[in-house]
Amino acid sequence: MSSTVVAGIGELVTCDGAGTDGLGARTGAAVVVEDGLVAWIGPQSAAPAADRRVDVGGRAVLPGFVDSHAHLVFAGDRGDEFAARMAGTPYDGGGIGVSVAATRAATDDELRALLAARVAEMRAQGTTTVEVKSGYGLTVEDEVRALRLAREVTQETTFLGAHVVPAEYAADRAAYLDLVTGPMLAAAAPYARWVDVFCEPHSAHAFTAEEARAVLVAGREAGLGLRVHGNQLGPGPGVQLAVELGAASVDHCTYLSGADVDALAAGTTVATLLPGVEFSTRSPYPDAAALLQAGVDIALATDCNPGTCYSSSMPFVIALAVREMGLTPGQAVYAATAGSARSLRRDDVGRLVVGARADLTVLDAPSHVHLSYRAGVPIARALDLRA
Ligand code: NIG
Ligand code: FE
Repeated sequence: MSSTVVAGIGELVTCDGAGTDGLGARTGAAVVVEDGLVAWIGPQSAAPAADRRVDVGGRAVLPGFVDSHAHLVFAGDRGDEFAARMAGTPYDGGGIGVSVAATRAATDDELRALLAARVAEMRAQGTTTVEVKSGYGLTVEDEVRALRLAREVTQETTFLGAHVVPAEYAADRAAYLDLVTGPMLAAAAPYARWVDVFCEPHSAHAFTAEEARAVLVAGREAGLGLRVHGNQLGPGPGVQLAVELGAASVDHCTYLSGADVDALAAGTTVATLLPGVEFSTRSPYPDAAALLQAGVDIALATDCNPGTCYSSSMPFVIALAVREMGLTPGQAVYAATAGSARSLRRDDVGRLVVGARADLTVLDAPSHVHLSYRAGVPIARALDLRA
């Protein structure tokens, strides 16, 4: 057993639920880490002896960000689609086919290297837990390959065979549904913790409420937890379906009715907001104030993907949430850590409490407020205690 005391912390944000904002922020505190877990938190003056001391020089320390929604297994990019969108072409999900073709054509080693680089990019910006979806393979082999590679970097792997109906099945959606809910699911399930579906009647490429229900029910029967892409391109059934089926999370929530907010408030499904998507698709931001006022649990994530948001930056998402959605800096940090951990049904990450994983993120700044105050400045990074 080896122990490290992290000292010289300017502001320690624990997200342990203390205080009116749940941030549990304090000054003068130290953290003792033992074998990768938080062993002790308290005043630095009372810290127990440890084998090693790391002084962070007055910087703020937070729980590592939990990026609970990301599509990181893909090849190629869609910069041209982004440029066209900025010139007025709306997003409709059709570009996903471009990424599917590029991903199918890539070797395992190419995809593995792309994935590793994206995870490293996230860690360098303070993210210590990431969920990774499949969804750019859309054949049995290619979906299994994506999940197998994703499992090499995270336990939070999500089967998204129901991302879009691939071109070769455009004339026979029912046959693709049979594949996704049958042989593809059976082959993917051993590598996945979650199943997800792009439930979006406003896209000809995505899935209706009935189709999405079939995907989720089959996934649940295969032992997977449920996640939903819902209400992204317009008002729709995704939120209500997610709540009805007890999904852990419904993500996007860009267009919400009063009934959607009420359903979320009455249920156990976390509303995961992805403001990088609204930024990159020039869409209205979700009504975070209505969700918070109704008592809905919210999370923040990047949705890092080649189409709607090719950003891996949780600090960027936090800054958008504060500037564009009216969250306080503290609410945004909480949603990006404890909130997103909850959306993954995890209590060992997203909070710094005794027994939790010692995933610490440090800021080149004295307080968490600087994450949004100093938008675009690379002040956050995961603290590497292994050295
Ligand atoms: O979460 N909406 C569906 N899936 C992704 C976009 C995927 C893509 O365009 O490549 C999203 O926005
Ligand atoms: Fe997504």
